[in-house]
Amino acid sequence: MSQLIILKKKIKRFDKEISIPGDKSLSIRWILFSSLANGISKSKNLLISEDILAAINVVKKLGIKVILTKKFCKIYGKGINGYKYKDNMSLDAKNSGTLGRLILGLIINSTKKIKLIGDVSLSKRDFKRVTDPLSKFGAYFKMSKNNGLPLIIKGSKYLKPIKYFEKKGSAQCKSSIIFAAMRTEGKTIIKAKKSRSHTEILCKYLKLPIKVRSKKNFDLIEVSKVERISSLNYNIPSDISSASFFLALTALSNNSKLLIKNVNINPNRIGIISIFRKMGITINFRNKRIYKGEKIADIFTCSPKNIRPINCPVNLNSSAIDEFLVIFLTVAAKAKGVSYFKNLSELNQKESPRLKWAEKILKMMGIKTVTTKSSIKIFGNPNLKIDRKIVIKNYLKDHRVFMASMIAALSFENKKGWYIHDKDSIKTSFPNFLKVIERLNGEK
Ligand code: S3P
Repeated sequence: MSQLIILKKKIKRFDKEISIPGDKSLSIRWILFSSLANGISKSKNLLISEDILAAINVVKKLGIKVILTKKFCKIYGKGINGYKYKDNMSLDAKNSGTLGRLILGLIINSTKKIKLIGDVSLSKRDFKRVTDPLSKFGAYFKMSKNNGLPLIIKGSKYLKPIKYFEKKGSAQCKSSIIFAAMRTEGKTIIKAKKSRSHTEILCKYLKLPIKVRSKKNFDLIEVSKVERISSLNYNIPSDISSASFFLALTALSNNSKLLIKNVNINPNRIGIISIFRKMGITINFRNKRIYKGEKIADIFTCSPKNIRPINCPVNLNSSAIDEFLVIFLTVAAKAKGVSYFKNLSELNQKESPRLKWAEKILKMMGIKTVTTKSSIKIFGNPNLKIDRKIVIKNYLKDHRVFMASMIAALSFENKKGWYIHDKDSIKTSFPNFLKVIERLNGEK
């Protein structure tokens, strides 16, 4: 099947309810926790995407039985010490930074050398951010020259607890350290800039020895050695990051309404909601509830009359980190005035350098930007008319570049066409993305 999608028409008005697949961060974490639990854990609505299959394959390689069907996933945990490490084994995190970084924390007790590999995109990404703190516990690492993958880890049975300040606001780093601390005698103390809190919430729900004290700009997290994890049945809620593409599409389409049910609204994931509201877009949470410690809601939105520009507060950066690309290419491009986003060097550390891609795509669209290594000013144009062929390719198959470009293409009509390559990139996080668009475009 062709990997190229050509779009020339804007999406029609819609008034629909849609479902979005399971949350990626929670799906990966559920797999990892269940793989170390005592007994069988079962999940429903697990995201079935390449990142998740990579996580399943990694735990299987570590000796854990997994049964995956269309309806459920069952993991046969063998307890906290149930992983089987073999000489010179290698684990493949494929495209997933979350899997690559989190698994290092869990295999830190291996006295055998383990090689961690990934695809072209992941191999270029920074792993020093986790190997630095994990070395302090007593693990040994052999790194590639660029601090990416492949790398080799040799852990230890005699790990020492650490004190660490996680300054990037990276949930992957924080979680990797929490996992290592769960294997370490004594008390590890992490001062962590705020970021998504799924790992801590699962630890608390499972009654593991963790304490979190929430301060204004950071959390103080204390973790002690874990002796036993109970099995965990989990109904994974929908992913706010996947839902965001359709919140943006609604914001830019005419007179449309959208309801997305059962979405995880972890307070450290909803930066896009605050940003949209500041830009004058209505978003309502309905039927708010708590599920195993996570906040869940149905999200309603409708098309606004005008979109205001934003000077984006930096305290929203971590909680909107995966959504900036779609924010830049849609609502900021359409806003009446200049929007400014700063302190975002982390965006260039993702599956592709996303700040650079935003600049490139906005330029092709005819939107002026002023971009530095860590910031972007976007000169929005509510009357934007695009009349030139736009070609998007060679972006390291970053799923979010593909999906954000698709949403921009469905929002800004272009008779000369948007040519967006590498459709298969959606398989990493949102394989039925195009089906949801079809549903919005269709009559039903
Ligand atoms: C994730 C954390 C974020 C995010 C990624 C998923 C997680 O990365 O971009 O898509 O599940 O912990 P960082 O922790 O590197 O910011």
